[in-house]
Amino acid sequence: MSQVPASLSSWALNVSTSPTLAVDAKAKALKAAGEDVCGFAAGEPDFDTPAHIKAAAVQALGAGKTKYAPTPGIPPLREALAAKYTDTYGLPTTAAQVVVSPGGKFSCYLTVLAICSPGDEVIVPAPYWVSYPEMVKLAGATPKTVLATDATGFKLTPEMLEAAITPKSKLLILNSPSNPTGAVYTAAELGTLTAVAVKHNLYIMSDEIYEHLLYDGVKHVSPASFSDEARERTIIVSGFAKTFAMTGWRLGTIVAAEPIAKAVAKLQSQTTSNATTFAQWGSLAAYTEADKTKVALDEMLVAFDRRRKLVHSGLNAIDGIECLLAQGAFYLFPNISSFGLDDLTFCERLLDEQKVAAVPGSAFGAPGFMRISYATADETLNKGLDRLGKFCAGL
Ligand SMILES: Cc1ncc(COP(=O)(O)O)c(C=O)c1O
Repeated sequence: MSQVPASLSSWALNVSTSPTLAVDAKAKALKAAGEDVCGFAAGEPDFDTPAHIKAAAVQALGAGKTKYAPTPGIPPLREALAAKYTDTYGLPTTAAQVVVSPGGKFSCYLTVLAICSPGDEVIVPAPYWVSYPEMVKLAGATPKTVLATDATGFKLTPEMLEAAITPKSKLLILNSPSNPTGAVYTAAELGTLTAVAVKHNLYIMSDEIYEHLLYDGVKHVSPASFSDEARERTIIVSGFAKTFAMTGWRLGTIVAAEPIAKAVAKLQSQTTSNATTFAQWGSLAAYTEADKTKVALDEMLVAFDRRRKLVHSGLNAIDGIECLLAQGAFYLFPNISSFGLDDLTFCERLLDEQKVAAVPGSAFGAPGFMRISYATADETLNKGLDRLGKFCAGL
């Protein structure tokens, strides 16, 4: 009889399943079973990919763009992305500094792998996107979370950052606009945090995947823009999923100093080879047909902004809930700590009793809150808010 190995690896055993995907999967299963579920759990735009981007991918398939692509991405897409960072954000960028990967998630993972060794510490401000601490653990490094609650607008202060830094600190993760809070750092706030990171010789992974989803006239700022030293140590991660409603296409980007971009490409060459070739050709149309892209994005932004205000006022109208008005992404992060229920129980009962799916704040390292994604139809939002109000009144 053949012997069975004792156990799975420590990587497999220690990594957690994504809680956001788990809540969304449960909501979808209930829906499939015929329940009328209001899903506020998915971090996914409810719009379709703009038609000109889809058409370009179809054309690429027709033209036989079905083979392996160069590991760091097809040259015209890397050129277009370099031009975007140079022209839009004033960050002089060459195509050699750009890597296209299969998704923003993989971009983050490759960045952590390229920067961190076992024993290193990574500063992860909470509320954090669920995958950051798990990716850090998968690299053998240690996540050091620092919680910033609604008392500081869910933003890390320079004092909090200073207090978290140790001689082992290697990388600071920043995510503005934020998932799960929608919080956006001002240029001044970001500048101060960047200066602390530079002073302590940290790398910064700046996850800017929500860079275009901004409201109230707020402009996007990257930590890389503050100085040459800041640019050298900042790895900008982004992707197509959120801005262009392309979650299923799996396309992410990395922009970094050339030696870091090369290291990331090397890791990619031994893991996924390249992002899907015809998807890259399709996504190129987002830049070559920029006018059409702008029309599609503006349309989405109008809807998101309307829903943001609707959900914000609806949440604050419920006795016991307090919610800040976020200026980015498509999330709000209300404080639900006044009800005497922990957030996991609150969200579980909300789904069971009222068929409203939201993700508990604990999943993001912030107990006492929950994440509401408003990337769904106004009608669903109104219905869900109504049910949430009934649920809270009954507690
Ligand atoms: C903050 C943040 N970064 C990265 C990603 C990854 O996006 P994708 O892998 O779909 O491109 C997400 C998706 O939820 C996110 O919220």
